Amino acid sequence: MVAYARSLRPQPTGAEETSFAADVRAGLRAPQKRIPAKYFYDETGSLLFERITELPEYYPTRCEMGILRDHAAEIAGLIAPGAALVEFGSGSNKKARLLLKAASAPAAYVPVDISGEMLAREAADLHSDFPHLKVRPVEADFTQPFALPREGEAARHKVGFFPGSTIGNFELPEAAAFLRHAGKILGSEGVLIVGVDLVKPAEILNAAYNDAAGVTAQFNLNLLTRMNRELGGRFDRAAFEHHAFFNRMRNRIEMHLVSRKPQTVKAAGETFRFRAGESIHTENSYKYSIESFGALARGVGWRPAGVWTDADGYFSIQAFRAGH
Ligand code: SAH
Ligand code: AVI
Repeated sequence: MVAYARSLRPQPTGAEETSFAADVRAGLRAPQKRIPAKYFYDETGSLLFERITELPEYYPTRCEMGILRDHAAEIAGLIAPGAALVEFGSGSNKKARLLLKAASAPAAYVPVDISGEMLAREAADLHSDFPHLKVRPVEADFTQPFALPREGEAARHKVGFFPGSTIGNFELPEAAAFLRHAGKILGSEGVLIVGVDLVKPAEILNAAYNDAAGVTAQFNLNLLTRMNRELGGRFDRAAFEHHAFFNRMRNRIEMHLVSRKPQTVKAAGETFRFRAGESIHTENSYKYSIESFGALARGVGWRPAGVWTDADGYFSIQAFRAGH
């Protein structure tokens, strides 16, 4: 059996305001409309993300999997016997599997994800492949305080794993805050292994977020479908289009949903006006250099413990230990 922990946050009942509704209202009232990227990951969004990872243009997953395969022993060497591996934003678990296979006798695996359906399914599969490992999923927003399950808490060595460059979806101060927060969760013996996407020519970046098959567009537009289903929204998907581009000044891909015409749309109990061409900013995906990410982590108390990249230098895995 896979023991299943929800975060200690109170779960909304029907009568309560959900944070999704509150975030959508606040975001769509702003001069530059915006919705936090964490809301992409309902069940459909999680499946669409998995399809993105298989696209020829979307290099990050292939590169990161390649780095993990090529350097599995060295990276997994950071996981001491008896350690708990805590994965932030675990999704399909496929990267953690490579580390768990190469690690010597890890005691527990704690995947943490906001997407409950995916989390439960993947944890059950993993448990049947690693029968001696305690798999303890936690459904939580990893930017908020959450309780580690007993088996995670009990391990003296806690290793955080944050792959996929999901850290790139934070603004820089939020990324620093997350690194600090992870430090508190992982404790004084903590190790953090982070997947960090690197700056590269704009054509490669733009293609990765504008795939020819239109899967990234569906992933973006699915947010409208989710608001319609969960917040009584009245968005017409055909009246919006996917727009993604590399913002060179800020070293980030921006994703937007652009209104194709002037329109008013109801959602979360309010009516929002859109001009033709006006957008909802739905995601940033920051690209770092090895040095800029290292400086960010060092600034909040992490000591560098290793960096690995693919042969093209497209993607990096960066490891850190707690303490100055
Ligand atoms: N680690 C996987 C998945 C990356 S997609 C990989 O590298 O391929 C990003 C994952 O983070 C999704 O599974 C999503 O549900 C989760 N996620 C995004 N924001 C989150 C948040 N604030 N709290 C918890 N999980 C989050
Ligand atoms: C999860 N995250 C790191 C992905 C990224 O590349 O920023 C999400 C994504 N958005 C569009 N394509 C993939």
